[in-house]
Amino acid sequence: TTVEYEAESWDMGGHDTYMHKEIFEQAEAVDRVLRGRIDDRFSTVHLGGLNLDAREARGVRRIKILGCGTSYHAGQIGAQLIEELARIPADAEPASEFRYRNPVVDPDTLYIAVSQSGETYDVLAAVQELKRKGARVLGVVNVVGSAIAREADGGLYVHAGPEVCVVSTKCFTNTVVAFGLLALHLGRTRDLSVADGKRIIAGLRKLPEQIADILSREDEIEKLAEEFTEARSMLFIGRVRGYPVAREASLKLKEVSYIHAEAYPASELKHGPLALIEPAMPTVAIVPDDDLLEKNRAALEEIKAREGKILAVAHREQEKADHTIVVPKNEDELDPILMGIPLQLLAYHTALKLGRDIDKPRNLAKSVTVE
Ligand code: AGP
Repeated sequence: TTVEYEAESWDMGGHDTYMHKEIFEQAEAVDRVLRGRIDDRFSTVHLGGLNLDAREARGVRRIKILGCGTSYHAGQIGAQLIEELARIPADAEPASEFRYRNPVVDPDTLYIAVSQSGETYDVLAAVQELKRKGARVLGVVNVVGSAIAREADGGLYVHAGPEVCVVSTKCFTNTVVAFGLLALHLGRTRDLSVADGKRIIAGLRKLPEQIADILSREDEIEKLAEEFTEARSMLFIGRVRGYPVAREASLKLKEVSYIHAEAYPASELKHGPLALIEPAMPTVAIVPDDDLLEKNRAALEEIKAREGKILAVAHREQEKADHTIVVPKNEDELDPILMGIPLQLLAYHTALKLGRDIDKPRNLAKSVTVE
């Protein structure tokens, strides 16, 4: 399949790499995914292409989200948003794992395939297997008219615009925002109150400005990157909402800088990874100001006690961290959308200092259309 983009999408717009350009397009891209979908009167959103009426939406007993790489991570945050806002049990799984384990396909489960390109073979094959077994599959896809978009029963486009860099950034953010919209929509067909609907809508509307605010601090992050160029390995930790953020940030760093990085739930530290902590092993910690703040701070203390260097991404300065990147606070549920953004810039600047091929990391392709 060939998808034709307008010539201007290929224009670097003054940036040296597509990755940099695409990171800086995020405020505008988020604005686009929200546009025309919010319904203030009923504190909900309209998603015309879902092909799921309110009665069908209420009949959904479980949601299974499938994707690969970054799209899988976006799906993990999506599953949490759906559980939090719609109280429907939801989880995400790598599409390739799913399709090879002869999964039990349940008629009351709604399946959601996530893909930037809409062409990833493992995701497409999972969708086809599901359809063959009579399941209902929605697509959360960026490329309009792509194979997965065509194969799905309905879905929503993430409207991130063309993403050229092999390393996905703006598409991740927009996919998570798209899941926010879907979760809100499903929530409002169930028990999410008007007040909570309003609260989430206000939070969604704040995102573009908050993203611009984070990106305006590029200089601070560029300086920080200097400290990580020497690292041979890094640990990324987060808890519940922060965990998929840590996973995605660690994938970004390894893809583009080739520095080994591993993500762990902060709660698992004491079950093994604490043995790795020493001055040469930096930790990046996602520390949102939510009900798990104290737990996260305790993890920072454990790391500091072992002389580990810590970079925190938080809503206020963290005493135990060597440096805190302070990001603007949104609603608790929406915080993960913002917390990964400074870490995209960190990965970018670390890779740049190391002289990596930013837009085309070795061994990787933009869309993996083979098995
Ligand atoms: C993202 O930075 C990666 N290059 C990769 O993990 C990617 O997200 C994955 O291959 C899935 O692609 P898709 O979203 O086009 O299906």
